[in-house]
Amino acid sequence: MNETHFLNRRTKLLALMEEGVAIITSAPTQTRSNDTEYSYRQNSDFYYLCGLNEDNSVLVLVKTPESSKTILFVEAYNAESALWNGARLGIEGASERFSVDEVNDVAEYSERIKELLREHINLYIDLYSDSARLVEAKTAAQSLHSTRGVKRHIRSIRDVTYLIGTLRLIKSDEEIEMIKQALTITAEAHHVAMRECRAGMREYQLQAQMSYIFLNNGAESEAYGAIVAGGNNANTLHYVDNRDTLRDGDLVLIDAACEWELYASDITRTFPINGKFSEAQREVYEKVLDVQLRVIDAICVGVKRDWLQTYSEELLCDALIELGILNGERHTLMEAKEHKKYAPHGIGHWMGLDVHDPCPYVDESGESLAFEAGMVMTIEPGLYFRADDDSVPERYRGIGIRIEDNILVTESGYENLSAMIAKSVEDIEKKMSEN
Ligand code: GLY
Ligand code: MN
Ligand code: MN
Repeated sequence: MNETHFLNRRTKLLALMEEGVAIITSAPTQTRSNDTEYSYRQNSDFYYLCGLNEDNSVLVLVKTPESSKTILFVEAYNAESALWNGARLGIEGASERFSVDEVNDVAEYSERIKELLREHINLYIDLYSDSARLVEAKTAAQSLHSTRGVKRHIRSIRDVTYLIGTLRLIKSDEEIEMIKQALTITAEAHHVAMRECRAGMREYQLQAQMSYIFLNNGAESEAYGAIVAGGNNANTLHYVDNRDTLRDGDLVLIDAACEWELYASDITRTFPINGKFSEAQREVYEKVLDVQLRVIDAICVGVKRDWLQTYSEELLCDALIELGILNGERHTLMEAKEHKKYAPHGIGHWMGLDVHDPCPYVDESGESLAFEAGMVMTIEPGLYFRADDDSVPERYRGIGIRIEDNILVTESGYENLSAMIAKSVEDIEKKMSEN
């Protein structure tokens, strides 16, 4: 993505601000063990606004009634650091790359921020971050507040992430291309898992096959910790152990996907370890698939996300009645939340630079947001029947199924961005027989 896109985003954020100073910090590095670090992952908001992948950087937007200014703080070139960790962009490099008004040495941040805060009344930051740079800014604002002779004082501290979240809600064509790129690789990884799956393998061996596809195709990382859950493990929603043996006659649920230039994909497929759905597995699978297809088909501009959630719960409740797991009227069962025992999670979430994109789900008045073209949401219904749950007919016990796709809302309806990944019983069995 080129600098024009990032410049446009900064301009849009400035337009949403009242007069004041916004500070957006890069993510810190994280220690993994002693003196080694986790691989670096930038703060998505910071990346969204400038595309810089370095830690110890700060973006500051300043808005007055007459004008606006953008200042980027980066680490200056340092020969010692370049020797060990590689050269950073440095002040010159950053000045060449970014259309900002000033690039400063981050060593000057503390002094510079004190100067800026004495001239403004609104401070925009991530209210829920404990970033040292933000704590520093709040401390500076507090100290200026009790200093006589200061021209203006910060009188309100506002959540900049909400404003950025509203911008991130609508994806540009370039962002959709990033998600599609992630999905192209993720699709191949799921197909490899289907082809390579054998009873007796370990869950991590399927995960390894997928990780190879991600990395070998240039994806920087998984978009989230992979779930490879054989049999009853699928009924633990956040199962990430992935060390069990895959058993003949069980299903395996794989929720795994990669990110491309920090844009996520998020895909779940569930398939039989031996390549053929049993009768009972097929019955449940086709119910979940039918719900997923109907929910996806209901997506269009103007539909509210809350409505879609309720609709999906109604369909899942009907499925549970048809499978003989719940008995009674849908309305009464739903009021008592009986379906939640077997379908406990939401129908989907926004997806973009974060797998769970932190964009608003409601408008300023608390009303559920209506879909607009450019929004991307996962649709991921699931039914989960624990092996030890005797409220479920025996033939269904130990079955856990989720099917997840990534859906783009378009002017004319929707586009299933992950439609190329095998999903029907026939397509999955065919894919699994290819090896
Ligand atoms: N993989 C995380 C989720 O489906 O929400
Ligand atoms: Mn998801
Ligand atoms: Mn998922």
